[in-house]
Amino acid sequence: MKVLLFGKNGQVGWELQRSLAVLGELVALDMDSTDLHADFSRPEGLRATVEAIRPDVIVNAAAHTAVDKAESEPDLARRINAEAPGVLARAAADSGALLVHYSTDYVFDGEGRAYRSEDAVAGPLNVYGQTKLAGEDAIRETCPHHLIFRTSWVYGARGGNFAKTMLRLAGERDRLTVIDDQIGAPTGADLLADITAHAVCTTLQQPGKAGLYHAVAAGETSWHGYASFVIEHARRAGMVLKATQVDPVPTTAFPTQARRPHNSRLSTAKLQNAFGLTLPSWQSGVARMLHEIIW
Ligand SMILES: NC(=O)c1ccc[n+]([C@@H]2O[C@H](COP(=O)([O-])OP(=O)(O)OC[C@H]3O[C@@H](n4cnc5c(N)ncnc54)[C@H](OP(=O)(O)O)[C@@H]3O)[C@@H](O)[C@H]2O)c1
Repeated sequence: MKVLLFGKNGQVGWELQRSLAVLGELVALDMDSTDLHADFSRPEGLRATVEAIRPDVIVNAAAHTAVDKAESEPDLARRINAEAPGVLARAAADSGALLVHYSTDYVFDGEGRAYRSEDAVAGPLNVYGQTKLAGEDAIRETCPHHLIFRTSWVYGARGGNFAKTMLRLAGERDRLTVIDDQIGAPTGADLLADITAHAVCTTLQQPGKAGLYHAVAAGETSWHGYASFVIEHARRAGMVLKATQVDPVPTTAFPTQARRPHNSRLSTAKLQNAFGLTLPSWQSGVARMLHEIIW
């Protein structure tokens, strides 16, 4: 089997390089790949890459993920998040490949407190969410043999992440202020990569499993709860931190270019039932990541 991975150096892409390697021959590309075109800002060239590799599975982890920046460069965000997945969908449909893609809780408006299922009405609040939703639509319309995973609050041990920022600030300041009125589930890139490998194997055997799934760690928290957990965990592990207080503040305390949803609760019942999976708590994944970055 041949797997073609785009966005290999992102948080999820990096973990996919590990989890997909056992499935067969893996061709992993990023924007700078020289032999094969993999720059999503020029979507038209992607079809030739698919035709050259002739993969059984295409996994797209590339995206324009700079949520605030997308507000000032909507055309680029649309090319990367919507048009490029559309080109991949047409190429996958023509060649019979399974297309795997990632989307976001930001396709929703975040009203209310309920967990949203896959068929809940979308209503993105910002350009990033609008372009990600357009990417989903392009895939749904063109390539029925797909897996789309909507996820939220993704972190990886490699590179920068929210936990590392909180630990740095807690080392520098006496007290921190963190938003407590956005609710979601921090989800490890490693967990998403493992879910992907399992779901790909199952869907290749049982094509009826193709479709849209919510894929996040179990449980819920706010950014304030997340920061408090990280700081407490690090302190118990012996890390010396200056901050003695983490104060909760509303979203309005930190104005940003892009509006963000308050309620990012996603129901994962469909994913767990379809693939026989049990999703671990967000705390277990974050604790594991902290062990990797602290020691
Ligand atoms: N991060 C989150 O909290 C989050 C939440 C919900 C959903 N998601 C979705 O999950 C997926 C993976 O996200 P992630 O967290 O792994 O994001 P990430 O770390 O930002 O990775 C995105 C990758 O896309 C690459 N990329 C950017 N512009 C490109 C272009 N023009 N051509 C080709 N590649 C390009 C980036 O390369 P450079 O690093 O060189 O720019 C990076 O390797 C995305 O679909 C994202 O929308 C993420």
